[in-house]
Amino acid sequence: MESYRTAEEMKSNYEDALIYNGEGKIEGDAVTETAFMTARQFAELTHGSFAQRFYQALLEKTNRVDNPPQLIDTPHFMELREQSSRVVLKDLVEKEGVTQIVELGAGFCSTSVDFLTSQDGLKVNKYIENDFEGKVLDVKQQIVNETLGGIPLSFIPGNVLDQSFWDKVEQNLSEGEHTAIFCQGLLQYLSKEQLGQLLGYAKTILASRGGVFFHEDILKYHPELREDPSFTFITQSLKRITDKKALDELMTQEEATQFYESEGFEVSRVPEQAKFSMDLYSENARKGAEELTKANLKMWLLRPKS
Ligand SMILES: C[S@@+](CC[C@H](N)C(=O)[O-])C[C@H]1O[C@@H](n2cnc3c(N)ncnc32)[C@H](O)[C@@H]1O
Repeated sequence: MESYRTAEEMKSNYEDALIYNGEGKIEGDAVTETAFMTARQFAELTHGSFAQRFYQALLEKTNRVDNPPQLIDTPHFMELREQSSRVVLKDLVEKEGVTQIVELGAGFCSTSVDFLTSQDGLKVNKYIENDFEGKVLDVKQQIVNETLGGIPLSFIPGNVLDQSFWDKVEQNLSEGEHTAIFCQGLLQYLSKEQLGQLLGYAKTILASRGGVFFHEDILKYHPELREDPSFTFITQSLKRITDKKALDELMTQEEATQFYESEGFEVSRVPEQAKFSMDLYSENARKGAEELTKANLKMWLLRPKS
């Protein structure tokens, strides 16, 4: 297992994405903007049940009604990962007795609320959502408190690369309950070193409780697809917006498997599937959804080796 520099030493992906004005003051951050963009896509290009309500409130509560986020035409990528995560969660709860869930970099995605308000979520005792401290989680927390009382959803803001965030997670989770930690749309922004560090934190939580860390398959692990015009588009858009070098740190599927194993995990895979909201898609997104289905992406499930 490799040893990693601390978050302070290696600089978090957040600091990397900060946008400064001429006087050196922070003007905004490109990583959080991706949460606004996905919120808009979920609301306008998918049939997700809470997506529209969340997005409307996000615009109003952040004074962005006249300054909405960009609409990048990738609802197929989002629906595939989001619906596949829900299938994995359902299985983990039903078949492996998972009762606690931690979602990292949740942004404005409504996976938690959709899951907890469905039959599948009834056995869950605790669902913790994380994202950077600030407006996205604040607004989400307000809406949940105002309209969705009674679901076991709580929020721990923080940087997933900071020990202090994981200390809070540790304090909030019960001992002896199987736990799932997952993220979607986040890992592509982390360098291999940052990912290794994140896995180390997650492993400590899971080792004493039992459970799984999982995430969707990412284009960084499919160098062969990056040359295909149906897929170059999404990476180019994300690079234009976040300017993150980590998006170009490619690994083959075999290399990613070896990496996870060398970090102390057993790797298993689950095929990704979605019922796409085709009637809301553009012509391009419809074609993209067909290509994406052919690519046979598979979720990555990681369990600490015993
Ligand atoms: C592309 S958005 C994905 C949002 C949501 N998970 C989805 O699938 O639509 C990436 C999210 O990860 C969050 N994020 C990125 N780096 C993070 C970090 N180091 N710690 C916590 N959150 C982070 C961003 O703020 C943003 O909300």
